[in-house]
Amino acid sequence: MESAEKGGYPHFMLKEIDEQPKALTDTLRPRIKINNNKSSIDFDDIKLDKSWVRSKRIVITACGTAYHAAVIGKYAFEHFARIHTEVDIASEYRYRNPICDKDDIFIVISQSGETADTLAAMRLAKKNGARILAITNTVGSTLSREADLVLYTRAGPEIAVASTKAFTTQMMCIYLLAIQFAYLRSLITEDVYTQYINDLLLIPDDVQKVLDEKEVVQKFAAGNFNKTKVFYMGRLFDYAVSMESALKLKEISYTHSEAFAAGELKHGTIALVDDTTLVVAFAAQQKLFDKIASNIREVTSRGAAALVITYNGVTRFDDICSEVIHVPQTPDVFSPLVSIVPAQLFAYYCSIQRGIDPDKPRNLAKSVTVE
Ligand code: G6P
Repeated sequence: MESAEKGGYPHFMLKEIDEQPKALTDTLRPRIKINNNKSSIDFDDIKLDKSWVRSKRIVITACGTAYHAAVIGKYAFEHFARIHTEVDIASEYRYRNPICDKDDIFIVISQSGETADTLAAMRLAKKNGARILAITNTVGSTLSREADLVLYTRAGPEIAVASTKAFTTQMMCIYLLAIQFAYLRSLITEDVYTQYINDLLLIPDDVQKVLDEKEVVQKFAAGNFNKTKVFYMGRLFDYAVSMESALKLKEISYTHSEAFAAGELKHGTIALVDDTTLVVAFAAQQKLFDKIASNIREVTSRGAAALVITYNGVTRFDDICSEVIHVPQTPDVFSPLVSIVPAQLFAYYCSIQRGIDPDKPRNLAKSVTVE
């Protein structure tokens, strides 16, 4: 039964990584209308009336991988919609006596819609008067029933414990919301709005291109799966991708991995860097290329191996690192949708090389319904 469901794949995780172009298309396409060369977002499932659009603050909360989509949300809402956005881990939020205003929008992200801490955070915000917008993959889940508005990711069932297609579709929902808020708040012109949407429409193909070259990542994993320390670093959106990448690797390959904002390297992590370390640097924020290049030099000069994940055609990192993996270029703000894919594949192949079943990693559960 299980092998039939895997559709010829050795593991659900690889199948789900490969399904991302379709999952992204299913999440995006039905919500886009194109008329006379102008594109617009039309959420079929939620209506954002004026009171939502005029909100002064957004709080996003989640656990695990969904929390990393929340971090992307902070950057995206502040960048596009210029709304003050806070992000918090649900298990922290629920116990920290948070300040909550009835005008706040409280966004809750959860693949399953059943995570105990996430539900508790949502209920607390609701009790304090905030309006709840849920992003979930699961129709009929507790979260979907208790939220005021529900925006569904249309990733299809995710079976592997480590989340992949749920994450990329959560990010897609976040970007759609942030762009729609920007437009409804009159912060962008119709042309810019159309351009952003058209950029997003290209993303599924870009992800497919990365998947078509997965052997590059497989080969890199074959030479690096036995590292004892793997650090991921990046700035801004690349930092959020780093966090998710480190989580993926530790979840399914049991490798000690950590993510940090590249600017923090000097404030601690550099003490751990030596010739047994692999550092993966994300370089998809062009205005910060010089900064990340200098961080890469700082780790390689201490003997670390460095993998750089950057755009096709970027050659400036070639001479300062051990390996470069290229991904299609997108606007920098949307790059997480594509740059996370090689990191998902790297974690998967490291898991296989280490003889671990990536679908069922030890001590982890797909849905954490108790505290
Ligand atoms: C567990 C899973 C993770 C997931 C997290 C949050 O830890 O193993 O993959 O990201 O729960 O789950 P949720 O269903 O709320 O997104």
